[in-house]
Amino acid sequence: MTADDDNGLASGAGAPGPSPQPSPRKRGEGARALREARAEHARLAEEIAEHDRRYYQEDAPIVSDAEYDALRQRYEALEKAHPELATPASLTRKVGAAPAEKFAKIKHAVPMLSLGNVFADEEVRDFVARVRRFLGLPAEAALAFTAEPKIDGLSCSLRYEKGVLVSAATRGDGYEGEDITANIRTLQEIPHRLHGGAHPQVLEARGEVYMRREDFFALNERQAAAGKPVFANPRNSAAGSLRQLDPSITASRPLRFFAYGWGEVSHMPADTQHGMLAALARFGLPINPLVELCAGAEELLAHYRQIEERRATLGYDIDGVVYKVDEIELQKRLGFVSRAPRWAMAHKFPAERATTILRDIEINVGRTGALTPVARLEPVTVGGVVVSNATLHNEDEIVRKDIHIGDTVVVQRAGDVIPQIVAVVLDKRPANARRYEFPHICPACGSAALREIDEKTGEADVVRRCTGSLVCPAQAIERLKHFASRNAMDIEGLGDKQIEFFFNEGLIRTASDIFTLEERDRASLAKLKNREGYGETSVRNLFAAINARRSVPINRFVYALGVRHVGETNARRLARHFADFETLRETASHAAPGSEERERIEAIEGVGGVVAEALNDFFAEPHNEREIDALLRHVTLEPMPQVESASPVAGKTVVFTGALERLTREEAKAQAERFGAKISGSVSKKTDLIVAGPGAGSKLTKAKELGVEVISEEEWFARTGQG
Ligand code: IVH
Repeated sequence: MTADDDNGLASGAGAPGPSPQPSPRKRGEGARALREARAEHARLAEEIAEHDRRYYQEDAPIVSDAEYDALRQRYEALEKAHPELATPASLTRKVGAAPAEKFAKIKHAVPMLSLGNVFADEEVRDFVARVRRFLGLPAEAALAFTAEPKIDGLSCSLRYEKGVLVSAATRGDGYEGEDITANIRTLQEIPHRLHGGAHPQVLEARGEVYMRREDFFALNERQAAAGKPVFANPRNSAAGSLRQLDPSITASRPLRFFAYGWGEVSHMPADTQHGMLAALARFGLPINPLVELCAGAEELLAHYRQIEERRATLGYDIDGVVYKVDEIELQKRLGFVSRAPRWAMAHKFPAERATTILRDIEINVGRTGALTPVARLEPVTVGGVVVSNATLHNEDEIVRKDIHIGDTVVVQRAGDVIPQIVAVVLDKRPANARRYEFPHICPACGSAALREIDEKTGEADVVRRCTGSLVCPAQAIERLKHFASRNAMDIEGLGDKQIEFFFNEGLIRTASDIFTLEERDRASLAKLKNREGYGETSVRNLFAAINARRSVPINRFVYALGVRHVGETNARRLARHFADFETLRETASHAAPGSEERERIEAIEGVGGVVAEALNDFFAEPHNEREIDALLRHVTLEPMPQVESASPVAGKTVVFTGALERLTREEAKAQAERFGAKISGSVSKKTDLIVAGPGAGSKLTKAKELGVEVISEEEWFARTGQG
């Protein structure tokens, strides 16, 4: 996409840098368009300021929220089309501007993925060895990595077009984030215009927004003095400050930024990771000073130790060190597995620990009916966060660790991981400590809670599950929360609390009830707007949020259904494989063990038997069938957003054979997956394409017999658009 493609408005202001110069006629048109835009922008500024005054100072608005929003949207669209208008005096930067109703969404031009984690030195050596193997590097070949602190904040993508900051987004689900442009503009460290003239026309700089520790403590003091809630740690504080609908609040919070990567870039200013960081620094973006170039695992580990030693004195929280292959060409070859790059790894610091007393054990019933024991603890600070609950995993774990109520226990937390109990301090066990009896009855619905017996091993599953899936309120509520959650249907305004409220009021019992809520409310005497906690505007917003999700990508819908073992990655795999939802549903509902349908599902790369079984259980269940029918009366399914551009090999079964020159086998497989193709080890009637290198033998012969298309490695590159 070029800078002009996504203007939203036709600016006619001429193409960016490297393109041919606009004709004089076009230049004239551009100048006129800018003049007109400037006049409209000024008129809107006055109008909006007047509405702000009436709204904020007189409490007497004369336009509806929707009309006001439309004015602001038009005002922002003008700035997007003509970045020159986004001066420091712009209302979009004005502290005290009216809060937006909610964040708009921004699709990331390049997905924002996460990182794989390791803790042990040996795993770092494995990572380096894996990279070398994947690239097929001989032992003597050099391979450079960068090592840099892993900042404990929240990631953000800043988009610059023609050197001007035009938008900023949170990571969101990695594919779509929240538009936090107005908030980001209040950060002092982030330039509104890139420095120097040599920057690319389009540059998405990615990095971490964070808060220094001293600023966090001072902010908490101010919050406490004003009787407002305090934050648990600098990261939460940074997140809470950035995700404010009112940018004036963000402006009052001391947020900072370190750039560590990039998304879309029209012209790469460097061909290495460290070169790119240097370029981002030249453009005026803050870069962490502790980035080091390392030659192999031992140098990475040495730098890790150095950073670990300095950790307490840095002034900001870090939770590990990130290693990245330095050469960008190699990064491209390595690509991604699921949601994390193969070319990078986070080496996390060891978890922090503390001891406290176990007051009680309670049972939490999850969405799938799993009974999870939760430890209620005497509150204790672990790594700067107050912990009062910890997971105990399952009943065997309680027995294995010999945990009694009243024990002194060692609690551990690492990053975002739920705190856990790692051990009991046995010599501190009081005389009245009592052994815990794990319930065999679901505490939420009274149904029997059983441990499934594995047919093959004859052993009991570690998890005890409630059998009352259709009557158990704990499962229903959890399923609904999952359905509406951010990475599933993403229904804003229908968070955990609201789901609990609607469920307990009997207004939403199944997912499809969500989509009939407005209609039922219209017919009801006990209108929602008259209920405690709701008013005219919030009800309107809720219905609008629900209506906005009457059309969703198929993968989100599949994930939202909450089928066991079908997480986001499997939902994507299924959505990619099946042309439409009906085919998936039809196949899954007939996928009994031994059937052709079962085989077809198990053959999907990365899916396998356990998922196929769960899909069959789910789709063959008549109650679920009825609920899906009800849902599909209200929800339209869109195709899954494509990460890789649609490729001619998508959906094809490919066999690589013979010696490959540019690709290792692992790399070939990863590429095929990236382009939506399926790799197979043997040639059959199902094979669509053979990529044959020198020395190809029986597979090539068989392919020719079957009339399967055969191409060379070079042609594979050309066909997948990698030239
Ligand atoms: S690189 C493709 N570098 O860690 C992956 N991430 O656990 C790009 N983070 O979402 C990430 N410091 O928010 C990278 N120096 C650093 C980082 C860093 C912090 C965060 C980032 C990411 C998360 C993954």
